[in-house]
Amino acid sequence: MSDFVVSARKYRPQTFDTVVGQKSITATLKNAIKNDHLAQAFLFCGSRGVGKTTTARILAKTINCSNRTEKLEACDTCDSCESFNTGSSLNIFELDAASNNSVDDIRSLIEQVRIAPQLGTHKVYIIDEVHMLSPSAFNAFLKTLEEPPKYAIFILATTEKHKIIPTILSRCQIFDFNRIKIADIASHLAFVAKEEGITVDDNALHVIAQKADGALRDALSIFDQIVTFSGNTITYDNVLENLNILDYDYYFRIVESTQKEDIPAALLLLNDIVEKGFDTHNFVVGLADHYRNLLVCQDVRTASLLEVSDDIQQKYVEQSKALDGNHIIRALGVLSKTDVDYKVSKNQRLLVEMALMQLCSINQELQKKNS
Ligand SMILES: Nc1ncnc2c1ncn2[C@@H]1O[C@H](COP(=O)(O)OP(=O)(O)O)[C@@H](O)[C@H]1O
Ligand SMILES: [Mg+2]
Ligand SMILES: [Zn+2]
Repeated sequence: MSDFVVSARKYRPQTFDTVVGQKSITATLKNAIKNDHLAQAFLFCGSRGVGKTTTARILAKTINCSNRTEKLEACDTCDSCESFNTGSSLNIFELDAASNNSVDDIRSLIEQVRIAPQLGTHKVYIIDEVHMLSPSAFNAFLKTLEEPPKYAIFILATTEKHKIIPTILSRCQIFDFNRIKIADIASHLAFVAKEEGITVDDNALHVIAQKADGALRDALSIFDQIVTFSGNTITYDNVLENLNILDYDYYFRIVESTQKEDIPAALLLLNDIVEKGFDTHNFVVGLADHYRNLLVCQDVRTASLLEVSDDIQQKYVEQSKALDGNHIIRALGVLSKTDVDYKVSKNQRLLVEMALMQLCSINQELQKKNS
């Protein structure tokens, strides 16, 4: 039997301060604990894998800890913390409303709420995907939410805030969880890699972080998948191959050839990309992203919107110096039109080739306009 534990579980934060990218939420919660001013009902909103359940568990553990640290974290050693750590605490309940959404499920939870905690001060009820509760379950739950016993705290979590009815919204303190920034995901992955004794370069981590699209859980799953595939040394190329992502370098070279108005070079690069098995639509979207990146690094005020590793950032800055803003905006226009036309086109490859030809002629057009 293997003792492999997926990273997303192994590296679930145990303290407020180790939750990544949700500082304002954890600070507010700590402050409420400090001032003994906790709400009885919370609504944690946000996409999957950004720390809602994690934060709810930390809150439950911390408020029941009998010996909190100066930084308002759980001590990890008192009886209550021990019972949390071993998963034997009777003070935390989790109900997944996606699969337990009947009125009976809620009734048995409400029964539970009546029993005061034996150890610690609070019982915390986490109801995940709360928008999935059936209407009758919702109604049964509302009464409890209106007048909960003092020791009960409800944390409702949802990925679809707009589906929560106003009566619930008005009873809860609402926290909107952020999607996690690429740089924050990459540095968390670097930490996990170090703990696991895995060598990995910064570019590789950034590509994984980008693919995860703001969800730390997804980033950790992708990371595990690549470790399984490439062992203890992960390179940028491993990641590209595994995730079927096009090397940044292609986009730099495409832009270079359009700058030189070298249509054959651009078409040959596209051919290369197609032969590698990449989808031409993804290529169009990726190239538009590339121009967007070039645009944001032309101004120091927007430079921070560039979410890539340091050495690639350098390449963007270099390339963007060679292009003027109008050129980039035109290029974005061409690509956006190609993106829209793509689905209805009968010859998609030709459509993309035409887009490249147009990109190659932007400089000439701009010159004509100015003369
Ligand atoms: N903000 C975060 N900081 C650190 N790890 C996180 C964060 N968000 C998610 N994770 C990782 O992803 C896993 C799942 O997170 P979880 O809190 O269950 O997400 P959610 O409830 O928002 O879907 C955690 O065990 C942890 O490894
Ligand atoms: Mg969750
Ligand atoms: Zn404790």
